[in-house]
Amino acid sequence: MVCSMSDRDLKILIVFYSMYGNTARLARAVAEGVGEVEGVKPVLRQVPELIPQHTIDSNPRIKAVKESLRDIPVANVNDLAEADGVIFGTPTRFGNMCSQMKQSIDQTGSLWLEGRLEGKPAGVFTSTSTLHGGQETTIISTMIPLLHHGMIIVGVPYSESRLLDMDFGGGSPYGASAVVGPESEMHPTERDLAIAKTLGRRVAEVAKKLRN
Ligand SMILES: Cc1cc2nc3c(=O)[nH]c(=O)nc-3n(C[C@H](O)[C@H](O)[C@H](O)COP(=O)(O)O)c2cc1C
Repeated sequence: MVCSMSDRDLKILIVFYSMYGNTARLARAVAEGVGEVEGVKPVLRQVPELIPQHTIDSNPRIKAVKESLRDIPVANVNDLAEADGVIFGTPTRFGNMCSQMKQSIDQTGSLWLEGRLEGKPAGVFTSTSTLHGGQETTIISTMIPLLHHGMIIVGVPYSESRLLDMDFGGGSPYGASAVVGPESEMHPTERDLAIAKTLGRRVAEVAKKLRN
């Protein structure tokens, strides 16, 4: 039996980098949100590491995080090409995306030439150490290459009423986020994770609408 395009599940790629595990926690929540939408499957991937292995081995904390992420495959260009939507997660580095994520995005020239990501929905999430450490600049600047690819940017609308809570934490109309402390020792709050799920759900819902 031949399956038509509309018979198959849509795939939303959640691709992230994480050194201390917090962006990974957000990524798993985003994937959960994607999975709540009928007919849409989350595909969780991490971008390749650039830190030398001996540096990781000499830092027990980072080493433990890397071990805990071993079950998540490393993304390749095909994962992006095959996805019906992509959600990018990066810790903030000086108000911008991390070099691991930038290096991966810079591998997508062939996809850009062929317009393979054009018309696909995209979302972004991040974490920072500090409250005003650049979540919005990171998310918005990460959107710039996605716009070059012709992706359709999806944020978190205020129908997600947690955005209006005055509790300490992340989450904005630009995307999901968390504030994790100067040593990255804190974790995303329940509210941060709920907003991350909303982002996942929303990208999945938009991907479904775009297919119809
Ligand atoms: C080189 C470097 C630059 C950073 N720049 C910022 C920054 O601009 N603002 C901020 O609040 N935190 C900054 N941080 C802290 C990271 O954002 C924080 O460790 C990260 O969000 C934790 O995510 P993870 O647990 O997924 O690694 C920086 C960390 C490093 C190593």
